[in-house]
Amino acid sequence: MIITELTIIGGVNKDGVAEPVSEISVKNGEIISIVGPTGSGKSTFIADIEQLAQNDTPSGRRILINHATPDPGMRRDPRMKCIAQLSQNMHFLADMEVGEFLRMHAKSRGRNSETLDYIVERTIELANRLTGEPICADEPLTILSGGQSRALMTADIAVISDSPIVLIDEIENAGIRKQEALKLLAGEGKLVVVVTHDPVLALMAKRRIVMQNGGVVGIIETTKKERSLCKSLVRMDNWMIALRETIRHGELVEGVRHFEPEHGRMELERTGAVFA
Ligand SMILES: Nc1ncnc2c1ncn2[C@@H]1O[C@H](COP(=O)(O)OP(=O)(O)OP(=O)(O)O)[C@@H](O)[C@H]1O
Ligand SMILES: [Mg+2]
Repeated sequence: MIITELTIIGGVNKDGVAEPVSEISVKNGEIISIVGPTGSGKSTFIADIEQLAQNDTPSGRRILINHATPDPGMRRDPRMKCIAQLSQNMHFLADMEVGEFLRMHAKSRGRNSETLDYIVERTIELANRLTGEPICADEPLTILSGGQSRALMTADIAVISDSPIVLIDEIENAGIRKQEALKLLAGEGKLVVVVTHDPVLALMAKRRIVMQNGGVVGIIETTKKERSLCKSLVRMDNWMIALRETIRHGELVEGVRHFEPEHGRMELERTGAVFA
């Protein structure tokens, strides 16, 4: 099924008061972010989408796909599932090697057996763009770190799962290159809803939904000035990532000789590590 549009029909906030924004539509290829204080209902909002709520959750929201009530089978049958969710607390439990798992997953999604090697290779290659610690095909899934697991899940969603709708809950704390992850998913033409406290991620979206007390209170279109601010923030972020990597590798960060903010490449005075 080709999904071109997702619509969220407003419900009520925690006090039972109707949400002032009665309808939100998101088209494929769009990233929309959700912002709001702790406890304001961000995760509940994406859970409503994940469950394709039909006025049967505490918020009373309804979800439409391509302007229509989704077929009940889409809620019950995992084979008809069109939504992938990347949450903060996910780990692999299967006692399998990474490559073996990806092959099995691609096969279960009906991929041609001749393409399996390529799919596995491509998924691992994309995952390794998102994590600082490379993943190998012959590693057991259970030894992957939190960041590696999240990177592999993101790449799996982009390459294998083929879910047209992707929900992301606070990826900034997941220990992966978050902007790359977002670009990767949106670039595949997916419809991405991202809950975030991170200014870069919030401003990468064209619009952001503002939540308060369990309800949507407004939608802000990212302005031209904000988009230009976002570019500066990306450079600052790359600077922080480069510094973090250097510190993680046990090196000093004094004496920056050269820094390319677009790519996060940094050259430092080679003073060597100092151990007490
Ligand atoms: N519209 C609503 N009606 C009733 N209860 C709601 C509604 N929205 C959220 N809640 C309840 O409020 C609590 C907090 O919501 P939620 O976990 O979605 O907040 P959050 O914004 O994701 O918070 P955090 O930033 O801490 O992750 C939950 O117990 C949830 O069930
Ligand atoms: Mg939450």
